[in-house]
Parts: sequence; C-alpha cells; structure tokens
Amino acid sequence: MNVFHKKSDLNKAVNTFKSAYQTLGLVPTMGALHSGHLALIKKALSENNLVVVSIFVNPTQFDNTSDLQKYPRTLESDVAMLKTLPEGEIMVYAPSVEDIYGDNVNSSNFSFDGLEDNMEGEFRTGHFDGVGTVVKRLFEIVKPDNAYFGEKDFQQLMIIKKLVEKHNIPVNIIGCPIHRETDGLAMSSRNARLEPEYRKAAPFIYKTLKSAKTKFGTNSDVKVIEWVKSKFAKHPLLKLEYFTIADEESLQPINRKSKSKSYRAFIAVYAGEIRLIDNIALN
Ligand code: PAJ
Repeated sequence: MNVFHKKSDLNKAVNTFKSAYQTLGLVPTMGALHSGHLALIKKALSENNLVVVSIFVNPTQFDNTSDLQKYPRTLESDVAMLKTLPEGEIMVYAPSVEDIYGDNVNSSNFSFDGLEDNMEGEFRTGHFDGVGTVVKRLFEIVKPDNAYFGEKDFQQLMIIKKLVEKHNIPVNIIGCPIHRETDGLAMSSRNARLEPEYRKAAPFIYKTLKSAKTKFGTNSDVKVIEWVKSKFAKHPLLKLEYFTIADEESLQPINRKSKSKSYRAFIAVYAGEIRLIDNIALN
C-alpha cells in the first residue's frame, strides 16, 4: 500500500490510474482509525477500483486548541489496520498542513443555506467553514467519482452534499450508517481518550437517544426535550451541551410536529473534557 505525503506524488499515481477509466473512491478521515472508518472504506472498496483514504487532522475545523493538540495521531497503526482489509486497492494520502494550505492556514467562508446554523454549527464556531475548506480541497486534489461520509456526523454529511451541489463538484456523496461499540456507544477516535469511569458512563447517551425515539412516538417534541434534559441534569458524570430535534432535510429545529416530515435527534455531551456527539432517526 502506498502512502503519499505530497499531493503532487498522489496526483501522479491517481492520474495514471484514472487514465484507464477506473472508478475512484475517496474516504476523508482525520485518522486514529476504528471500525466505523473501516466500514466506510470497505463500502468504498466494494464500489470502486481504487480508494484513496486521506488521513489529515485539519487544524481549521477545531475551535479548541487543546482538542486539536490532543487529537490522536497514529499514522503507523492506521496504515497497519488498512493492510488488514481483505481486498482492493488503497492509496493513503497523509499530507502535512503545508501541503493542504500552503502558508495560509485559514478557512474560506461558506453558506450552506442554513444547514450550518444549529447543533455543531452553533456550538463550534467556524467548524463547518473548516470542514468545507478541507473537503473541497481534497475533492480538488483527488478528483474522486464517489466520496464516503458517516451518519455519525449527520450534519457534516448534509453540509458536504450541499457543498457539492452549490459548487458543482462532480462527485457522488454516499452516506454510511453509524457504527457502534457493543454497548451502543458510537465509535469515535475521541473514545480512546475517555477515562475508564467516563467510558463506562458514555453508553447512557445512546440509551437515552433510543428512549427519546420511543417517547417521540406518543409525546410532543417539547416533552421529549424536557425529559432528555432532566435525565442529564441528574447524571453525575455526563454534561449535556445540546439535545435538538430537527427536520432531517433542513436541519432546522422542530417547531410543530408534522406527520409528513422526517425528524432526527442530535446530541452533544461532555464526558469530562471529551466531547461526544451522536444522533438517531426518530421516524
Ligand atoms: P473523522 O472524525 O475521522 O471521520 C471520518 C469519517 O468517518 C466521517 O465521514 C465520519 O462521519 C465517519 N465516522 C466516524 N465515526 C463513525 C462511526 N462510528 N460510524 C460511521 N461513520 C463514522 O469527520 C471527519 O473526520 C472530518 O471532519 C473530515 C470529514 C475528515 C474533514 O476533516
């Protein structure tokens, strides 16, 4: 498996490949790979002749310097994990900050037609400008036919679809379901940083989301939101940042439940210093 650190080297390898009219898939990641990432990569391998996995901790999407500094960087074990995948051609693109940004490590400003207004967009200032900037750049460098994103970051997935539509980028965006640990905790590179007591407490997040889904069948959204807030208010370790029920298409918070719409619940929780997010389809 080839690991490229420079876009010029990756480009050469990819261009040779593409000239033979093969399909190319891209799976953008920030590394510290886990089975959630691997599921995306396996899907990409099953649908493309070549898959580029990018591994890049993108500085412009972090609103918290300590989170950026402490983000796990494990390129060697990531590559070892990719080598265990049974079949298919993978190229790894693990660039430096300079290879992506040159000497201007800044985000562009995007409008995603309101998809960015709430949840992660509200609580992590500038986050989606950073994501939009790096993903657009990766699309320009790799020029994939298909690109794969997880529903774990549902708002990000919707925003990437909007980015592609608004900028006429010729790539299909494919969403993949959330992968969970056996106790229900959504897999995340940040889980490795949870202290044992917080790791033990964290499945409460998904358990509460599942109960909220059941309650949403017979209760008003206001009741469900109050119930979730009260559950977290009583929890000794987990601190709720937000719980939002939003329209699955517009990502605007619900104001009156309508039978014809699909809704999704979104949550962000602090387990000590580690911030965890999750979401669930409600109907
Ligand atoms: P990262 O958090 O590394 O995630 C890379 C991709 O894996 C994203 O599309 C994410 O939604 C998906 N993913 C992560 N955990 C998952 C899980 N438990 N189940 C399913 N999919 C999961 O998201 C990013 O990186 C960055 O913002 C990036 C898009 C790479 C831009 O920098």
